[in-house]
Amino acid sequence: MAPSTSLGKISLPRQQRGLLQPLNSPKHKSVAATPPAGLLQELLGDAQPPKPRRASDETLAVHVGEKLGKGAGGEDATDSITTPIVSGTTHWFKNSEDLIAFKEGRRHSHEYGWYSNPSVKVLEDKISALERAEATLVTSSGMNAIVATLLALVPPGGHVVTTTDCYSEARAFISDRLSKMGIKSTLIDLDDMESLKAVLDQNDVTLFYADSPTNPLLKCVDIKLVAELCHQKGALVCIDSTLASPINQKPLTLGADIVVHSATKYMAGHHDVIAGCVSGSEALISKIRAWHHDLGGAISPNAAYMIIRGLKTMALRV
Ligand SMILES: Cc1ncc(COP(=O)(O)O)c(C=O)c1O
Repeated sequence: MAPSTSLGKISLPRQQRGLLQPLNSPKHKSVAATPPAGLLQELLGDAQPPKPRRASDETLAVHVGEKLGKGAGGEDATDSITTPIVSGTTHWFKNSEDLIAFKEGRRHSHEYGWYSNPSVKVLEDKISALERAEATLVTSSGMNAIVATLLALVPPGGHVVTTTDCYSEARAFISDRLSKMGIKSTLIDLDDMESLKAVLDQNDVTLFYADSPTNPLLKCVDIKLVAELCHQKGALVCIDSTLASPINQKPLTLGADIVVHSATKYMAGHHDVIAGCVSGSEALISKIRAWHHDLGGAISPNAAYMIIRGLKTMALRV
């Protein structure tokens, strides 16, 4: 029988059913919260330290990235319990050595708001933890995340496969705009795996793109199967997981390479902020980040703070 969720009755591939579990299920508790090295040993002496506890998604959403008295920028500490909203656009370097150390990655700081911001970084770290991703980029809207992802990962001459039931603006961008840049697109029915196999066999597909669950019909893609088929042919898989939220589905753990969200929806949760995000490996996200810089799609630190606040109740809301 199809599981009943806050999304209504949806038809879900077998591998994903396990992800729609009650919030107290062990399925939601899979990231180790490692205690600081040395501290436990000091407290316990020769006694065996307890096995690392696994932090739940609820805990990750509240605590990951928060500086807990160490200040959002690291060095310029405040003792604020919540993440401060750092609204400054441009950051200070004491001297040339300081700037060189930053550019060479020896000193952690921020430069200009387009590239990074301390408050936005906290949000990115939380989303990475929830999606089990190496890296996350937060953007000014969900559509901005989708466009930056497609432009970064599909070169002219590339080929995108997407599904007939899909967020209409993303589908229109793929079919109408990318075609003007010399990028081919093919639409398939999202559960027609024979068509997907045929397209993959007959073309040099760059990327498979789909919502799961879809907007508007709430159909689900068998992400695991799609990822297996696409990876055999060297194609990347990008899933828009907006309507599941990272609490109910983690596409990267099912084999997808990239997950995007309209953070405007469940992540922010209060109908008062527009934002998006994209998560995946550091290598893929840094490519998308470069395009995002060109598009100028930085989110405001105030909006980022509102999503940080929204995330803390997301598990209760979905
Ligand atoms: C599934 C899905 N993806 C992406 C978007 C675009 O997000 P945004 O409105 O934040 O740009 C939407 C918006 O409705 C959506 O429903």
